[in-house]
Amino acid sequence: EQLAILASVLRTAVDAIIIIDQRGTIESANIATERMFGFSPGEMIGQNVKMLMPSPDHEQHDGYLARYQETGERHIIGIGREVTGKRKDGSLFPLHLGVSEVQTDQRKLFTGILRDISELKAAEAELKQLN
Ligand code: HEM
Repeated sequence: EQLAILASVLRTAVDAIIIIDQRGTIESANIATERMFGFSPGEMIGQNVKMLMPSPDHEQHDGYLARYQETGERHIIGIGREVTGKRKDGSLFPLHLGVSEVQTDQRKLFTGILRDISELKAAEAELKQLN
């Protein structure tokens, strides 16, 4: 029963939760990911996570993963970062991205948690105008 509860929490979370393998291939994505980016699960599963980001990260993300594998140097894992996401319709939006590493018996996976911060950024911009 606890597993069922955990599964439904992940599925229905407000934040997008995406699991990739070491090469960047999307293994699973929750409903919030579909809502945020406009892709169906069938369009995302098995594709490279770089499909969700614009240049220059789009071209460089495989390299980020490779570098991490080689050096173990963390730039986002356990730190978080503001990045830019790209929806199916091509529109861009600001995200907060958190990444953690999951070591299973067999292999290493990465879990990304993404929050749309469009409204936060808009409010920040308005505040700046007031000053
Ligand atoms: C590294 C961007 C999604 C996993 C990076 C870096 C950037 C980036 C810029 C390198 C940071 C640096 O070198 O300073 C993005 C963008 C995303 C995205 C724009 C938008 C969708 C994801 C997702 C995951 C993920 C969903 C995991 C499920 C990783 C990992 C690294 C990395 C494992 C290397 C480890 C590290 O630098 O700490 N990403 N990423 N990324 N990203 Fe992504």
